[in-house]
Amino acid sequence: MKVLVIGSGGREHAIVWKLAQSPSVRKIYAAPGNPGIWDLAAPVTVDHNNIAALADFAAAEGIDLTVVGPEIYLALGLVDEFARRGLLVFGPTKAAAVIEAEKAFAKDFMARHHIPTADYAVFSDYERARDHLRAHGAPVVVKASGLAGGKGAFVCQSLDQAEEALADLMVRRVFGEAGEKVVIEEYLTGEEASLLVLTDGERAWPFPLAQDHKRAYDGDEGPNTGGMGAYAPAGVLPPVEIDRVMETIVYPTLKGLAAEGRPYRGVLYVGLMIAPSGPKVVEYNCRFGDPEAQAVLPLLVTDFASLCLAAAAGRRPADPPVFSGQSAVCVVLAAGGYPGDYRKGDVIHGLDVATHLSEVLVFHAGTALRGGEVVTAGGRVLNVVGLGPEFTVARERAYAAVSRIEFAGMHYRRDIAWREMRRRMLS
Ligand code: AMP
Ligand code: GLY
Repeated sequence: MKVLVIGSGGREHAIVWKLAQSPSVRKIYAAPGNPGIWDLAAPVTVDHNNIAALADFAAAEGIDLTVVGPEIYLALGLVDEFARRGLLVFGPTKAAAVIEAEKAFAKDFMARHHIPTADYAVFSDYERARDHLRAHGAPVVVKASGLAGGKGAFVCQSLDQAEEALADLMVRRVFGEAGEKVVIEEYLTGEEASLLVLTDGERAWPFPLAQDHKRAYDGDEGPNTGGMGAYAPAGVLPPVEIDRVMETIVYPTLKGLAAEGRPYRGVLYVGLMIAPSGPKVVEYNCRFGDPEAQAVLPLLVTDFASLCLAAAAGRRPADPPVFSGQSAVCVVLAAGGYPGDYRKGDVIHGLDVATHLSEVLVFHAGTALRGGEVVTAGGRVLNVVGLGPEFTVARERAYAAVSRIEFAGMHYRRDIAWREMRRRMLS
């Protein structure tokens, strides 16, 4: 079959790399892709921001399956537009993607379906929201209801901070329309984990539990980022607890969405807080996590393209997903300055050597080609994944590969998977 993958980051490189292993995949196209992806997929020249143009391309080229990376395409209704033309897409419709695109919807939905999550209130009026904050006090979490590129949630330890965040969203409108409605939430304590499940709308299969590292610096210090690394499987929930999350969170979510006329297909990402009282949903995403995908996809043994095709068509897959039992540790190499204004155009050295190390994968996230050289072009530049039968081995392989790569301004966390290391030391 012919497959089209939409997006241009490390997540999409991991998706393309995995699809390329499927015997049934004859050709992969990327819209727009990146230099790492183009080693495996043909770049599509149509404007990747134009959904109708993408659908025209898919129809003309006879694309059998489209896989979407970023949420924005799903929130804008790419799946609906493709479906109108009889084209299969692995991903949810616009109606189902609201689970990520509108946090106020997600919270009310969880309340309706008794899905455990932080207590909350929703406001469209600034004064009312401010009065609520003052009555509630800190710590508290203030969130833009709409899509804000992962930057719309403010965890506030003081009332001043919370009022500032609220004014940013509702008065200064730093995220425009996305902040017209806000969700004010109870602050939860605990360890976070990302449960990604593959679903045809009725049945769901979990990927190994992953853990992201959102802060820029070691020890979870510094500003929030898109994610500085991930690993899987994360031992914060034992398998029996994951089964419970499937029963108390994942299936009620899928059933609730279907019952409300929003059947969900694709990957559902459930961001969990493992609170003292049990797992609670922090957020839903309507797509693979980045960088979680880079950690979990290498662990998949089953033919990925067949799984995506079956889920997209709402069919039970011939073979349910099976995982290797290995561990994966993904380290993000970031550009100087990231997550603030960052450097661009620095030549990346050592890519060839690192890419050829055994049990190591190097996914491109923010790179570009300049006169035959690979240069930095995004905040998160490369994702280096180490694999191994044991965590410690996977981690050593990842960092050994990282040590071969160099570009001006490069920075990365040296403590990816530290919670897992500590857990293992204590157990
Ligand atoms: P979100 O955009 O909803 O995923 O939130 C981004 C990050 O903010 C999460 O990954 C958590 O680290 C943190 N966060 C969100 N909601 C809460 C909450 N209710 N309590 C504590 N931390 C939270
Ligand atoms: N890693 C967090 C996300 O993809 O939203």
